[in-house]
Amino acid sequence: MARVFVTRRLPGTALERLAAAHDVEVWPGETPPPPDALGAAVRDADGLLCLLTDTIDAGLLDAAPRLRAIANYAVGVDNIDLAATAARGIAVGNTPDVLTDSTADLAMGLMLAVARRLPEGLAAVREGRWGRWAPDWLLGRDVHGATLGIVGFGRIGQAVARRAEGFAMEVLSAGRPGGPGPSLGDVLERADFVSLHCPLTPETRGLVDAAALHRMRPTAYLVNAARGPIVDAAALGAALRDGVIAGAALDVTDPEPLPADDPLLDAPNLVVLPHLGSATERTRAAMADRAVENLLAALAGEAMPFPAP
Ligand code: GLV
Ligand code: GLV
Repeated sequence: MARVFVTRRLPGTALERLAAAHDVEVWPGETPPPPDALGAAVRDADGLLCLLTDTIDAGLLDAAPRLRAIANYAVGVDNIDLAATAARGIAVGNTPDVLTDSTADLAMGLMLAVARRLPEGLAAVREGRWGRWAPDWLLGRDVHGATLGIVGFGRIGQAVARRAEGFAMEVLSAGRPGGPGPSLGDVLERADFVSLHCPLTPETRGLVDAAALHRMRPTAYLVNAARGPIVDAAALGAALRDGVIAGAALDVTDPEPLPADDPLLDAPNLVVLPHLGSATERTRAAMADRAVENLLAALAGEAMPFPAP
């Protein structure tokens, strides 16, 4: 029996399977364990199941001399210092595939929300501002038939492209794995919607900066269901206020959570959701299954079925 620390209770039954095989401790809180509590918890742990809100850096790993497996409950692994885990021979796994379609669904929802002004319509109804049907009230822009620029054409980007076909959108994609395709600049200049689906890496941090936003059309929308720091938040706020782009819909922000008094929230034509991309009952349970499969394999001395890229 190995000792495993899990940083949060998870939906579904996967943790029961883990606990049947190993000595499992689950952080009871509704917020991430603070760094010192996490450090104390991993001191004698062989395995760790963590969330994207847990920062796994060299300092933490130094406090965990026995650790040999980390299962991240996410497809993105930007919260983990992969050079530090590799240097220590610690296996790292993620939860690909099972969240692809849920995240792609949400990206379509973001596009529809910002372009068709759904939050403004909802607020008008609830606040008693629904007057007579009017020809010119809350007019937005069409999603169907628009040009969709997908930045990061991995599993999720491709799943968004499949959905876009049903909306008769023209799809341009930058960042095809191993393949040619339009450049990021082409995509920014031609798309009516620019949707981000790349991982957060040193190369993509701040990718959508003021210069990138200025290359976009003034009628275009930015959609981010990937990672907040891919977008320069201050530049985005300025671009929305100055009409450089038509709007933005974000499921991820920098920082997360975004404080209710963050200046970005004062920008016009902005929809923000609290990182809900994979948030369906089925998907979150399937992610727990993958994370547990990764840990069970690694703790048995086998390769993880879903190793982090
Ligand atoms: C969610 O953001 C994930 O990376 O799974
Ligand atoms: C993640 O699942 C991706 O490749 O888009």
